Amino acid sequence: MTHAGTQAITVLPGVIHYPGYYDADACRALVDQLRKIAEAAPFFTPTMPKTDKPFSVRMTNCGSLGWVSDRTGYRYQPDHPVTGRPWPPMPSELTALWQDVAADALPPEACLVNYYEPTARMGLHQDRDEQTFDAPVVSVSLGDTALFRIGGTERRDPTRSFRLQSGDVLVFGGPARLAFHGIDRLYAGSSTLLDKGGRLNLTLRRVTPKP
Ligand code: SIN
Ligand code: FE2
Repeated sequence: MTHAGTQAITVLPGVIHYPGYYDADACRALVDQLRKIAEAAPFFTPTMPKTDKPFSVRMTNCGSLGWVSDRTGYRYQPDHPVTGRPWPPMPSELTALWQDVAADALPPEACLVNYYEPTARMGLHQDRDEQTFDAPVVSVSLGDTALFRIGGTERRDPTRSFRLQSGDVLVFGGPARLAFHGIDRLYAGSSTLLDKGGRLNLTLRRVTPKP
């Protein structure tokens, strides 16, 4: 069901791209899981710290911790900011993915689910709200193709951009764990996976250090 015959491409030190890790059937199975997750934990629109300006993506989470953002800042928390309920558990497909591509790391605690409408984007940023950076970030793309950009640990470092297609997995860790990255644009209509179009991105992370 997963990554049969896909090769891993090292894009930059610590940045590994697995094109087509999930085939079309596996992508549909993941979307079915995400539909159930979104019923229990509806997508919400996060806002920027201080300015309270809405993000262009909508978000939800699964796992024991979820990433949220509002005017008071970015953080991880165990419950949904609107419903107050615990996040739904991480599906076994995703813990299996982590086992496959990040076996040496402690298990993932958070899976952030971002929904991009065709015009949404994600500015260059670092993932640095975790208490440990020992584990890599593991990300799954579903739906429309996106133009992803990643550089170094300084904002001014040169960047590389490449397309992430539905079913692709991207891992960034080690020397690239704090690399600046973002989504420049989507290619609307490039996939028929999602009924309404757009793109889902799942980001799996370890948040707390070894107990
Ligand atoms: C993110 O860095 O939060 C999302 C990256 C992506 O959508 O591929
Ligand atoms: Fe990120």
